[in-house]
Amino acid sequence: MKIILTGIQPSGALHLGNYFGAMQPAIERQSLGQAVYFIADYHALTSVTRADDLRRYTVDVAAGFLACGLDPVRTILFRQGDVPQVHELAWLLSVVTPMGLLERAHSYKDKVAQGAETNHGLFAYPVLMAADILLYNSDLVPVGKDQKQHLEIARDIAQKFNDRFGPVFKIPEPVIGEATAIVPGTDGRKMSKSYGNVIPLFGDEKEIRKAVMSIKTDSTPIDQPKQIEGTVLGQLMQAVDPKAYPDFVAQAAKPGTGYGDLKKVLLASIQKYFQPFQEKYRHYLANPAEVEAVLRDGAVRARELAAPVLAAARQATGLSS
Ligand code: TRP
Repeated sequence: MKIILTGIQPSGALHLGNYFGAMQPAIERQSLGQAVYFIADYHALTSVTRADDLRRYTVDVAAGFLACGLDPVRTILFRQGDVPQVHELAWLLSVVTPMGLLERAHSYKDKVAQGAETNHGLFAYPVLMAADILLYNSDLVPVGKDQKQHLEIARDIAQKFNDRFGPVFKIPEPVIGEATAIVPGTDGRKMSKSYGNVIPLFGDEKEIRKAVMSIKTDSTPIDQPKQIEGTVLGQLMQAVDPKAYPDFVAQAAKPGTGYGDLKKVLLASIQKYFQPFQEKYRHYLANPAEVEAVLRDGAVRARELAAPVLAAARQATGLSS
């Protein structure tokens, strides 16, 4: 059975980009092998600085996954931080990781270019990510396009380790989702908390409405036909309700349809799609013990998968067994 592994950072309230970019594909894939999904809380510490925020976002991701259809019996769902063995592996990997490999990482270079205060955690982020992947003998790693380079780095590190110490790690295959490219934020850039352009997944009605109504459009007058294919509005509708999309395009092309009307149609589709999930999500938030039980059980199962791999890596390097 193939191990399908992915991680999602608890770095803010979940939004449509998280859902279509990571959660939905992960949930769909859970029947294709042994899915191992974790909440990357160690990674989130590179940006989340308040303990209460980290706890809240972590529960949010877990409750969100469960609400949207993750099956905790079949799938292993856990907190990265509940398996601290990953740091031992990260160290073993770091000694075969060339500095240059990390210096070339886009995500790190972008942070430096933005003038963000950098730290070693940010620099070593891809090594920890490689450890996440290799510790569980992953076959397939579904990620968004923005994580492609991190996956290449993980493969490189695995190969370097195997070359030096012997064949310990399986070389994981990335599964790059196209979806992240088609879920723009309200301003047209990638939907991201740091851009302030998100449509929240579990926000209250007013919040979601406000976000949808703020979607950037051009100034085509109401009596002119609108070409919405490829626009933010069009791409979002395509993600939320692909079946209704052709009608949406046709409606936009009719003179007399305003952008406000189209936004209302999109809003209704979002509400319809996510309403059942929102109810379940509220259930989990009101019953945090249920979520905690799932995460603890997931951690036990994750540690079982990790133990032989870590033992093999220690053995190969000459550490005591
Ligand atoms: N870096 C990923 C992101 O921000 C999250 C992540 C951490 C991850 N470890 C992982 C994804 C391992 C896949 C596999 O989206």
